[in-house]
Amino acid sequence: MKSRGAIEFAKTYFKDSINSIVEVGVLAGGHAFSMKKILNPKQIYLVDSYKPILDSIETIHTQEEYDGWYNQATLAFKSSDNHKFIIESSQQAASVVPNDLDLVYLDASHDELNVIKDIACWYPKLRVGGILCGHDYGPVNGVRLAVTRMFNNVQTQEVDWWIIKTKEGY
Ligand SMILES: C[S@@+](CC[C@H](N)C(=O)[O-])C[C@H]1O[C@@H](n2cnc3c(N)ncnc32)[C@H](O)[C@@H]1O
Repeated sequence: MKSRGAIEFAKTYFKDSINSIVEVGVLAGGHAFSMKKILNPKQIYLVDSYKPILDSIETIHTQEEYDGWYNQATLAFKSSDNHKFIIESSQQAASVVPNDLDLVYLDASHDELNVIKDIACWYPKLRVGGILCGHDYGPVNGVRLAVTRMFNNVQTQEVDWWIIKTKEGY
């Protein structure tokens, strides 16, 4: 499987020395597992509410569907011993995950307001030199609106976007 643009960039940028990474929005774990395989971090945090987020425009699924995706994700990671699932909303999870992260991949809510909230709570968790990135950067959509509102140095490839944190604060 071809890896996504931000992950390819991170692989070259970090040169195999990665401590901790996060995926926010894991679903069945396919992309998180691929990220772990490619970047080989010491620790990966897997953040997903696995239940509807009521202030989001995302499609609401049944709890059975969310439970099914969680089961698939735990199966995908069953042979791994350096991952941790955090079954919380993105913002609650940010208060639990340690600071000084190398990379955070945002793929949870996709509306402008929630992506801004995700950026606001995860960007401060990164170390200087870390990468904030995500998926579904469309021609005209909430992800693009949020990301370009928050940063003026966004790099993209296909529908992935990323920025490097160059200093504390924005
Ligand atoms: C697009 S899917 C993630 C797809 C996954 N990254 C992949 O590429 O296979 C979005 C996921 O984010 C979760 N999600 C959406 N909004 C969230 C929020 N605010 N906090 C935590 N999880 C959220 C949903 O439960 C869903 O599993």
